[in-house]
Amino acid sequence: MSRKKIVAGNWKMNKTPEEAEKLVSELIPMVQGSDVDVVVCTPYTSLWAAANILKGTDIALGAQNMHFADSGAYTGEVSADMLLALGVKYVIIGHSERRQYFGETDDTVNKKILKALEKGLIPIVCCGESLEQRELGVTGELVRQQIKIAFRGVTAEQAKGVVIAYEPIWAIGTGKTATAQQANEVCAIIRGVIGELYGASVAEQIRIQYGGSMNAGNAAELMSQPDIDGGLIGGASLKAEDFTKIVKYRG
Ligand code: 13P
Repeated sequence: MSRKKIVAGNWKMNKTPEEAEKLVSELIPMVQGSDVDVVVCTPYTSLWAAANILKGTDIALGAQNMHFADSGAYTGEVSADMLLALGVKYVIIGHSERRQYFGETDDTVNKKILKALEKGLIPIVCCGESLEQRELGVTGELVRQQIKIAFRGVTAEQAKGVVIAYEPIWAIGTGKTATAQQANEVCAIIRGVIGELYGASVAEQIRIQYGGSMNAGNAAELMSQPDIDGGLIGGASLKAEDFTKIVKYRG
């Protein structure tokens, strides 16, 4: 079976609401007619502005994080219900920058995925190794562990709809892309562990993105790999033209 590709822009800590309105307004006509699912993950502060413009278009809205509790004394945090109320459909969970700078662990990632699924948000679950871990030869073991813990308690029915993003940390924002073979190899390992957990049918259906210095020039080669079902794009998602070229990678 063929999986529909999914290209998501992770804007990280960039763009004011006004700038976000400008970028999504540019993107809407440019990505029209593409055969991939298109998502933009803006900062929290721009979700409302972007949502109002994206309503009724082919571009879905995503957030970059959420808390696993329903509500309460969690200063500075945002809940799944708050995101849903703004029209958010996807939420990035466990990005390496959140793990590195904000103390996220495989356990908090698991809690967040369970809450997102309970509420009806689609998690984009991030995993990936550091340069040191790659050089030590533990990439496969590491991502297997990250995925197994992330999916603890997730049912097969739920797992089908989850999106996984394989993002080698050494390739993020560095201009060093994993080769298409390296990226595909790890995406295949991830699909393998999903198969062990849920069986071949779920493994065939789940979508796995690659992320890490993906750009207009390398997107086609990466996305034509058999186990790569799209991209999670940082820097190149901040310019309408570059992001569109990735969305329309088939030319
Ligand atoms: P870059 O595309 O800027 O390397 O970022 C990738 C990323 O972290 C997307 O989540």
